[in-house]
Amino acid sequence: MKEIVKDKIYIKTFGCQMNNYDSDRLLESLSDTHKKVINPEEADIIVLNTCHIREKAAEKIYSEVGKIKLLKKNNDKLKLIITGCVAQAEGKAMIKRQPIIDAVVGPQMYHKFPGILKKKNSKRVIKLDFEHDKKFNELRGKRIIANVSSFVTIQEGCDKFCSFCVVPFTRGSEISRKEEDIIKEVSMLVSLGCKEVILLGQNVNAYHGISSKNQEINLASLIISLENIKGLERISYTTSHPKDMNIDLINLHGISQKLNPYLHLPVQSGSNKILKSMNRKYTSEQYLKIIENLRRKNPNIAISSDFIVGFPGETKNDFAQTIKLVKEVEFAQAYSFKYSRRPGTKSSRMDNKEITLNEKNERLLELQELLNKHQKKFNNNFINKEVRVLIKGKGKKLNQYRGTTKWMQVVNFESKKTVNSFENVKITKSSNNSLLGEV
Ligand code: SAH
Ligand code: SF4
Ligand code: F3S
Repeated sequence: MKEIVKDKIYIKTFGCQMNNYDSDRLLESLSDTHKKVINPEEADIIVLNTCHIREKAAEKIYSEVGKIKLLKKNNDKLKLIITGCVAQAEGKAMIKRQPIIDAVVGPQMYHKFPGILKKKNSKRVIKLDFEHDKKFNELRGKRIIANVSSFVTIQEGCDKFCSFCVVPFTRGSEISRKEEDIIKEVSMLVSLGCKEVILLGQNVNAYHGISSKNQEINLASLIISLENIKGLERISYTTSHPKDMNIDLINLHGISQKLNPYLHLPVQSGSNKILKSMNRKYTSEQYLKIIENLRRKNPNIAISSDFIVGFPGETKNDFAQTIKLVKEVEFAQAYSFKYSRRPGTKSSRMDNKEITLNEKNERLLELQELLNKHQKKFNNNFINKEVRVLIKGKGKKLNQYRGTTKWMQVVNFESKKTVNSFENVKITKSSNNSLLGEV
């Protein structure tokens, strides 16, 4: 039988976990005709799956395109395709300005991808509509790429319109996948060796999918259904919005056997004035109440968050409110960013003259020092304790392995014997970002 010569595809992924998931799904949809390569120099097709969340993220893409220009000079058959959120936001202008781009494809048009690659003529392609439904139907296809910890998108898009954020424009309106499709996909991943599933959505806790009995269900019900999948040991979900942190989900954290005791619940700011101007739809008091309720159900839960400093109009006093909230919650982990003005968002039209760049930097540093201190404190609690670690791969050193706890901390440990999917590891040391241990 004649062997099929597959075209070589290279994908570089930027941005959030959903982009990682999408890149895997793109590769899966092309697996009959294309082979993944890890060097762009070898590729027939280069895909940049991009992120538009902050200015720096978007700028990176233009410098990547610059590098590919050189590759295209040496290989005139090479195709460059831009996908993801920069494609959605700036695709039309990009393709006009950069003749080396062959196609721009927005996040809700990935079902068109195989067709775009089959095309024989050299006409450049723009696919920037929002065909969520068609894409989700296509997603029901087979899973081939499975990791011990795998992402599964269950909800996509956002209707919240926080005044700083591009996501509602780049991913479109909020839509949930059917329970049946999600169960099928997770079961398939588990049969391929997956032990932990991380359910993804821009507002994952706003999930409102249709069950097999044709009823609308929430995230808690979906997780309860997924718990029945034999062989699936851990379940996590991200990112949640405080406004959608409903009672069913909070209760589930107290009783579920498989749900990780970890919640990423971005608060962004501790000042009610800033939260209002951000259009976050909750107050700092309401946020604290949610944390209190969660901790009442599960005292061991690790809380994580995102913060923005230097939002337009943020005074010293507003920032002090953020510090106060951080001290009250003591997050186990967090991400913090300087405010970045994004085209088309409501806050891009707000006056942002009072805060100098210097001040923004100082605030970020102060916040990060405090967050790091709390993260270290949380991690120090694990020293001399034995924790169950899901092994994700080899570490950098000889006989070293890397895995995660159910609180989503990274653990590096040494073992002379080959390891199983899970190992009990005694923690000997901790740092801000990870734990060190031995079997
Ligand atoms: N859906 C999630 C966040 C998605 S974006 C939520 O509602 O919390 C991830 C994080 O990027 C946000 O939590 C926010 O902290 C940060 N971010 C988004 N837009 C930003 C901007 N314009 N400037 C700085 N940080 C931003
Ligand atoms: Fe962006 Fe707000 Fe939607 Fe999160 S909830 S994706 S921050 S608009
Ligand atoms: Fe970036 Fe789009 Fe994700 S803007 S953070 S890739 S949803």
